[in-house]
Amino acid sequence: MMRKIFIGWMMLISFSAFSQTDAKMKSFVDALMKKMTLDEKIGQLNLLTPGGGIATGAVVNSDVESKIKTGSVGAMFGTIGVDNIRRVQQLNMSNSRLKIPLFFGSDVIHGYKTTFPIPLALSCSWDMNMIQKTARTAAIEASADGLSWTFSPMVDIARDPRWGRVAEGAGEDPYLGSQIAKAMVIGYQGNLKDSTNLLACVKHFALYGAAEGGRDYNTTDMSKVKMYEYYLPPYKAAVDAGVASAMTSFNEIDGIPATGNKWLLTDLLRKQWGFKGFVVTDYTAINEMIHHGSGDLKQVSAMALRAGTDMDMVGEGFLTTLKQSLKEGKITLQMIDDACRRILEAKYKLGLFNNPYRYIDSVRAAKEVLSADKRQVSRDAAVRSVVLLKNENQTLPLKMNGTIALIGPLANNKSNMVGTWAVSGDSKYSVPVLEGIKNAVGSSANILYAKGANITDDADLAKMANVFGEKVDIDPLSPDQLLQQAVETAAKADVIVAVVGEASEMSGEAASRSDISLPSNQTRLLEALKQTGKPLVVVLMSGRPLTIAKESQLATSLLQAWFLGHETGNAIADVLFGNYNPSGKLTMSFPRSVGQIPVYYNYKNTGRPQDPGKKDKFRSNYLDIDNSPLYPFGYGLSYTNFNYSNISLSDTVTSANKTIRATVTVTNSGNYDGEEVVQLYVWDEVASVTQPVKKLKGFQKIFLKKGESKQVTFNITNEELRFFNSDLKWVSEPGRFTIYIGGSSDASNKASFILK
Ligand code: BGC
Repeated sequence: MMRKIFIGWMMLISFSAFSQTDAKMKSFVDALMKKMTLDEKIGQLNLLTPGGGIATGAVVNSDVESKIKTGSVGAMFGTIGVDNIRRVQQLNMSNSRLKIPLFFGSDVIHGYKTTFPIPLALSCSWDMNMIQKTARTAAIEASADGLSWTFSPMVDIARDPRWGRVAEGAGEDPYLGSQIAKAMVIGYQGNLKDSTNLLACVKHFALYGAAEGGRDYNTTDMSKVKMYEYYLPPYKAAVDAGVASAMTSFNEIDGIPATGNKWLLTDLLRKQWGFKGFVVTDYTAINEMIHHGSGDLKQVSAMALRAGTDMDMVGEGFLTTLKQSLKEGKITLQMIDDACRRILEAKYKLGLFNNPYRYIDSVRAAKEVLSADKRQVSRDAAVRSVVLLKNENQTLPLKMNGTIALIGPLANNKSNMVGTWAVSGDSKYSVPVLEGIKNAVGSSANILYAKGANITDDADLAKMANVFGEKVDIDPLSPDQLLQQAVETAAKADVIVAVVGEASEMSGEAASRSDISLPSNQTRLLEALKQTGKPLVVVLMSGRPLTIAKESQLATSLLQAWFLGHETGNAIADVLFGNYNPSGKLTMSFPRSVGQIPVYYNYKNTGRPQDPGKKDKFRSNYLDIDNSPLYPFGYGLSYTNFNYSNISLSDTVTSANKTIRATVTVTNSGNYDGEEVVQLYVWDEVASVTQPVKKLKGFQKIFLKKGESKQVTFNITNEELRFFNSDLKWVSEPGRFTIYIGGSSDASNKASFILK
């Protein structure tokens, strides 16, 4: 009883504390808005970039200074560096009539100036503390340099590796994606109480990752059940974690562009999910609605505002047309007020009305930007992001003696290591693999190097990959000469380490590929190296799963290294020599061929399921290829081995308000200490909406010393057994459930129970 009263009292205190802050904010914003003209209100909805950074659309804004002076700008992005930001804020504070502070955003996607592994790589760590720490570290660094808003996390679920932007997300699974979304929002925003935090922005709302054919910006179309079950959860998780803003996506949903989609932005996001932040468009997304076929600029701008969009990125559709639309009765003043209020509230929460220069502190910038502790975070994150796909004859870890031939176009390369979407990450701070290996071995081993091949010999592809600077350099030596040098170098070595892959800008925005194989000249290099008969360790860099059936056969050992950021070379050396025992697990399935796409672990059985490894007539299969991926979701090896006991269940019958405990003992039976990601999958065997063969519903990353065993228990509550039914209700239904626990989505260790 006493406890209940106490809890009630605590709730009252926190509720009233919350509403007091809210009430204070409301009266402040009310008073300010009373002073604002219609133009000034519309000005707050305008997000501009002066160019100079990376412009991802065809246009950047002009006359930005005069627009700031007249109060026609609410926020800026693409202004980088504490001194530049101070200048712009000063311009605003000393010229605009009401002196409403600007806030400053940027794409702080995987680190700010200190660059971390690309998000797809980070997701393979399955390490939520680590991921949160990278976001936290990026927030500390970026906020010290004047920024207060990041366009991250990108949480678009993607099942199609042709889409270049898979590099920016967390892969194919909604459960894992949701955990990562939450970790990142918390990492960036903290409690927003001090100036080391950034407003986060969940993007791209919504379904951007389901672009047809994997072609960027393309149409999406799917059932609501599929949306709710597989694509929406990570956005919702970000909202639940208190994300301050959301960015609309370029695609349409049910035939209505996301930026003008009222169901999406108002009914779902605000009403169903209770989102309290503001909605910003993606780059010129309002203007692009003209091409979608939704009307002229005036019409689409009004449509976007009516739908629930608050801020117009770059396009100036709001700035130039809303006043007229108001006159014509196409929108209401209330709609403008609502949007304006949300922007002002964000500024209030950032503390900018108390101090417009709160984030602008040169002393902090000098201390935090590119500091040594941040590089350490980058290296820790990088080693955890690498996935060991193959390790024949325990070739890895390498011994630090003898002669090692380091070969490949990415082996001594700085410019690609930061990966795509590192707008503030300077390549000159990257440690190439050759340097990292030399740092690690000192004089203990002899390191030889040859480039062996260009990243690609295809001039057109090279040109596209080089739009943001030279990522693919075509060597003055001919491809044959490069190859010959490599083979001669390899012949002198005991072991070959070949660092091959894509250029960093062969993935990312507007970098879709219909052929996701390794460029053929690099496959030719691997074939020639294989011919030497030496053990061939392949380190593969890419921003997406590649089709590597042939290459994985050529490799004795295969490390999927993605793009690991500034500390790439040191991190890869850590893994190659066993300083760090790899623990990464794939978060996207690796297809055997492009024709298999989409291939993902949580597929439906169909009415004619094909038994694995077989090929029968009148079954759901391909004549020429197995249904399974080359490497499945959740897969990744270690230098040690982990054995799983059978699953023991606390009960074989459960009910909606009961918890079943599923326990396994995991034993490290190999020769190294190591970490394992223990994964729980659930199969709901009979349901009113058919369920996939497996859904990830839990995971734990554990560390085991060699020889050590640990019990791992998962609590399975009603929550883990639910799905979205045809009425889009989140329900569980009675029946038999089978769970799987193991180190990959193809785990076969299972147990069943009944839900009554
Ligand atoms: C991208 C966004 C990004 C924005 C601003 C767009 O092209 O789709 O992800 O945040 O540009 O740079």
